[in-house]
Amino acid sequence: MQNKLFRALLLIVAVAMMAGMVTACAAPAAAPAATGGEAAEATEAAAPAASGAPVVGIVLPTKDEPRWIQDEARFKDLLGTAGVPVEILFSQGDSAKEKANVESLLTKGIKVLILTPQDGAAAAAAAQAAKDAGVKVIAYDRLILGTDAVDYYVTFDSNAVGAAQAQYLVDKATGTGNPLYLYAGAASDNNAFLFFEGAWKVLQPKIADGTFVIKNSSEAVALQDKAELTRDELAKIIGQVTTNWDFNTAKNLAEANLTVAKPEDKGNVSILAPNDGTARAIADVFGVDPDVTSYVVTGQDAEKASVQYIIDGKQSMTVLKDVRTLAADAIAAAQAFLAGETPEQTNTYNNSTIDVPAKPSVVIPVDKENVKAAIIDSGYWPASDFTGLE
Ligand code: BGC
Repeated sequence: MQNKLFRALLLIVAVAMMAGMVTACAAPAAAPAATGGEAAEATEAAAPAASGAPVVGIVLPTKDEPRWIQDEARFKDLLGTAGVPVEILFSQGDSAKEKANVESLLTKGIKVLILTPQDGAAAAAAAQAAKDAGVKVIAYDRLILGTDAVDYYVTFDSNAVGAAQAQYLVDKATGTGNPLYLYAGAASDNNAFLFFEGAWKVLQPKIADGTFVIKNSSEAVALQDKAELTRDELAKIIGQVTTNWDFNTAKNLAEANLTVAKPEDKGNVSILAPNDGTARAIADVFGVDPDVTSYVVTGQDAEKASVQYIIDGKQSMTVLKDVRTLAADAIAAAQAFLAGETPEQTNTYNNSTIDVPAKPSVVIPVDKENVKAAIIDSGYWPASDFTGLE
């Protein structure tokens, strides 16, 4: 009896050990691209893209913001004609999920990775894994930082976005002493720096001449005499007025700012809001403050909800970044790489390790005056999605 029990136990241990061995053997094959070059070569040889397997992998940051759903939809529109098998994954604001997404695409044998990093610096590891696997890496909209494993950057002119937002505030301001509230994107996103830098260059002379008075950032006030800010200086201001690209954070920050502001810091206010989602959240807060007589608020992305806010007079402007162009540029770059060619380059962006070749696209400021021409007549969104259009 004891002997039988012993033999049964032995059998269980043996089966468990075999299972462990199988897992141990399978692991490198399942995730070969995560580490050094040897594993990567194995991937290339062992897992060529099977028919139906993706050749291009696209990893986008989150489904929680309409902006990135837009990109997914525009990619899907294009894919019918591009003839390249593509898989699109979302990282839900999590760099670890992003890395896992990239690794899963690498095991499927992709040849080109199109990645919008959640966190520009953290994404360097995923880009390196792709490079090790012999995969070309295209940074999409947001730059991947601190690595030479980025082959190309498809982007809009983000400095111009910030400049257009700031110019709008300048154009709408009258007289002097206009209360100015500054908000920024996530410090983990290089674009937040580019937007703020572009805005600062336009706003700073108008702060210096008294047109605007900054009301919600002691860091910005401390730097208001400087026409050009270093990255560290930008980081100080962004750290204080960041929305983290999150609607609730934006709402809470705006509420906190208005709670400490005195009635004389309100009245007719100018608000630099970094994008549409945060603009709507901030506008909703300013819109119900009894001491705010009127506000001008910026945005970007031409999200449908913000286009409706513009029509309704609740958001002043947005910046149209035509995602149809961006997605088409990304697919064209991927096709160039697949054909062994080099995508078109008009510019470079330094990611603190290399100058990444890029082709930035132009952006279009949109307000109530040109919303119909820029958004509807251009076919960007259908008129039937909105109410109150003239
Ligand atoms: C993009 C914006 C977007 C923001 C938040 C930025 O990197 O350029 O279009 O609104 O991220 O997702």
